[in-house]
Amino acid sequence: MSEESLDCGSVVSMGPRIDVVTAFPDMFGPVFGESVMGRSVASGLLDIRVHDLRDYSSDRRRTLDDYSFGGGCGMVMMAEPIHACVEKLLLEVMAPTTRVILTSPQGRPFDQAMASEFASQDHLIILCGHYEGIDERVADLLVTDEVSIGDFVMTGGEIAAMAMVDAVSRHVPGVVGKEESVSGDSFYSEKVFDCPHFTRPADWRGFRVPEVLLGGHHKFIQDTRRRWALSKTARVRPDLVSWKEVSTVFAEKIRKKRGRGRGRPPGVRRGAKRCGFHLALVHYPVLNKLGDVVATALTNFDIHDISRSSRTFGASAYHLILPQASQRDMAAKLLGFWRDDASRISHINRKDALSLARVWPTLNTCIQEIEFCEGERPLIVVTSARPAGDRQVSYSDLREIMDSGGHPVLLVFGTGYGLAEEVMESADMVLPPILGAGDWNHLSVRAAVAIILDRLRGN
Ligand SMILES: C[S@@+](CC[C@H](N)C(=O)[O-])C[C@H]1O[C@@H](n2cnc3c(N)ncnc32)[C@H](O)[C@@H]1O
Repeated sequence: MSEESLDCGSVVSMGPRIDVVTAFPDMFGPVFGESVMGRSVASGLLDIRVHDLRDYSSDRRRTLDDYSFGGGCGMVMMAEPIHACVEKLLLEVMAPTTRVILTSPQGRPFDQAMASEFASQDHLIILCGHYEGIDERVADLLVTDEVSIGDFVMTGGEIAAMAMVDAVSRHVPGVVGKEESVSGDSFYSEKVFDCPHFTRPADWRGFRVPEVLLGGHHKFIQDTRRRWALSKTARVRPDLVSWKEVSTVFAEKIRKKRGRGRGRPPGVRRGAKRCGFHLALVHYPVLNKLGDVVATALTNFDIHDISRSSRTFGASAYHLILPQASQRDMAAKLLGFWRDDASRISHINRKDALSLARVWPTLNTCIQEIEFCEGERPLIVVTSARPAGDRQVSYSDLREIMDSGGHPVLLVFGTGYGLAEEVMESADMVLPPILGAGDWNHLSVRAAVAIILDRLRGN
């Protein structure tokens, strides 16, 4: 593919001509030849050319690298082949605006704004480094933008170049079918994530699409999606969000909820209720007796007894966090039996309790679902037999928070020898351990759940 434009069609490109300079041109064919990029290149919407740097090497062995002055074990890409190639391209294209981009871990971080800016140029030349990188002198002379795709080091600039070309291409008119399908994307017009998306079936393995999306009320769907997007951005990338907007949007949501007596928000099913508090039983990541992080096995006792305690004390749902698909299948089978068949054999109460159980592969997916259902992230409160540390909340304070109904709460319990550190650290609050008569402290999780629920929700 050296010195070749990728197979072009007849449409005139509205984007920049893109020249990629690399010692490994064959890496690009599969990426630029497939899917959206492949179609756009084939139709001529994108004008991308990949150049083999070895064609510009002056020696017979087509060498591109040499030793680093001053020592060190890595090789450095020589200045002359890069200079010869870039000079030829500049003279050949003579575009009004050209950017010569060096892929480098030391560059400015690549982002959507940069992709959009590059897309508005007439000509881009992207240099792929290798080994220790390129001779600094040629970089100083030619490069207009040194760009990194993240704070990590790869073996070469080819993957970085592919990522940049892909992101730039999405800004070229016609490459992505409809403008609306990109304008809602993460980072498109502002630094906020896209909202979560769902497709058919509406009920997949018992996991339902959030009801609001099925209601057909466009404005309400739009507002809800905005809230989801803001809430995930605030949680995952607090550095990006405008906290003013986050608090305004959520204050509005709470105001609407308070006024709900005067009518449901449009699009919400009749009878849909606000969730109060939830329980999660984590099977991974938890500790074993040696302190290793492990996954534990599902037990029938935990499903039944904790569902019954949850039902007794008014939990909105009981979430089983099961990382292994086989365990989730087993849970689904057990729950299916009690939910579907039990009523026929007169176990209405058991069916009632077990209908609170939900199964999730990770605690995060469970938290997201609660957030969908509540419209805000739950307060995450973890439990442990170990001392609580500085995020400790007393039982009476938490009870007061739960009584007020101001925030959804998720009480997280661990199996094995307790929750792993990463779960403990992600929590908003930690409940103190239940203490008995002495220092023997090995209650079953089922007993701990019942005692804690009695303290927080008992009469
Ligand atoms: C092994 S790296 C050189 C790393 C260099 N010695 C340093 O530590 O800054 C080789 C080449 O891979 C590319 N590369 C590696 N990591 C990158 C990143 N995060 N973003 C963009 N390009 C990268 C660059 O083209 C770089 O010249």
